[in-house]
Amino acid sequence: MHPKSANRLAGFGTSIFSEISALAARYQAINLGQGFPDFAGPAFLKDAACSAINADLNQYAPSTGLPTLRAAIARTWERHSKVSVDPDAEITVTSGATEAMFATIMALINPGDEVLIFEPFYDSYPPNVLMAGGIPRYIRLHEPRWEVDFAQVRAAITPQTKAIILNTPHNPTGKVWSRTELSQLAAIAIEHDLLVISDEVYDRLVFEDYQHCSIATLPDMWERTVTISSTGKTFSVTGWKIGYAIAPNSLTEAIRRVHQFVTFASATPLQAAAVVGLNAGEPYERQLLQFYNARREQLVKVLRDAGLYVLPPQGTYFVMADIRDLGWDNDAEFCRYLISEIGVAAIPPSAFYHDGYQSGMVRFCFAKKPETIAAAAEKLKQLGSRS
Ligand SMILES: Cc1ncc(COP(=O)(O)O)c(C=O)c1O
Repeated sequence: MHPKSANRLAGFGTSIFSEISALAARYQAINLGQGFPDFAGPAFLKDAACSAINADLNQYAPSTGLPTLRAAIARTWERHSKVSVDPDAEITVTSGATEAMFATIMALINPGDEVLIFEPFYDSYPPNVLMAGGIPRYIRLHEPRWEVDFAQVRAAITPQTKAIILNTPHNPTGKVWSRTELSQLAAIAIEHDLLVISDEVYDRLVFEDYQHCSIATLPDMWERTVTISSTGKTFSVTGWKIGYAIAPNSLTEAIRRVHQFVTFASATPLQAAAVVGLNAGEPYERQLLQFYNARREQLVKVLRDAGLYVLPPQGTYFVMADIRDLGWDNDAEFCRYLISEIGVAAIPPSAFYHDGYQSGMVRFCFAKKPETIAAAAEKLKQLGSRS
């Protein structure tokens, strides 16, 4: 890095995804690592984007987002949560959930403020907090079921604690926080007057009898919560980067002040297409879930057949597999071996712990064509116990 690079970059490495994807490309491995679909996005959505471009919706959108998109986000939120939201005052469209998270943290965290982060975490949270001058405080979820020890949450709180970052459904573990767990967290947030920033980008990917619950909808939580989501996962177009933040007006105003000077506005024709996507509503969501449920079952079986211990994820499009029965304890070493010797890429979750903790698991992604997973299955047959 250039010697004149800013001090705030100290400690920011390059993302694990870049390293694994480069290695996967070098060995032509089947990439079940990075979380993005390898199949086409829905035709009706792509047509809507092309129509918007051809209709010359190509200039800056309003900074807060197209009014039609904010209205569609509000309708979707109300349909799921049964709580109303004001699209003009309480919704901001951003360039992906990533920008929503960055703008929220920049808007709410002062230098010296402490922010509680559950680990394993999504990799942008700690750098975002550090860029704001905040101090991340980490609380581990406990494998194999990724349980929360609320005594540990309480113990991590100090007079400087300002906010908690929550992610449900949770990447990489597939945990969907239950209403009971969220109520316990909400009680702590209320007692200590903390903000909650809730990343819910996988809100439409929840399996079996599990249910997604937004912590913002629990009693007395609306005023202290920012809910972040994205259309990328729901519509299999992660490259479009149309995300949003839902929050009470006072918090929304703060977020918008940052957003206007980060990206100002997000891609107009893609916002217009996202309206068409969201308006597809419940029938589309049901189909999506069926598709992912089949992929989830397929990958769980493939991994189990390969000798890995797996608990089916409750949500998201990730599965965590235990590598210890095969004689491995270092996830990064295992992933390098898996790519170079077996030909399949997975992600080592130690990258999602501040101290490189080894959970004994690796993350596989099933946002892939059935044939991609089947091809990985063939390769994984060579996986045996480490001699
Ligand atoms: C938990 C989580 N949050 C945020 C994001 C980023 O979302 P977006 O692509 O909308 O910026 C991802 C993408 O993988 C994610 O897994």
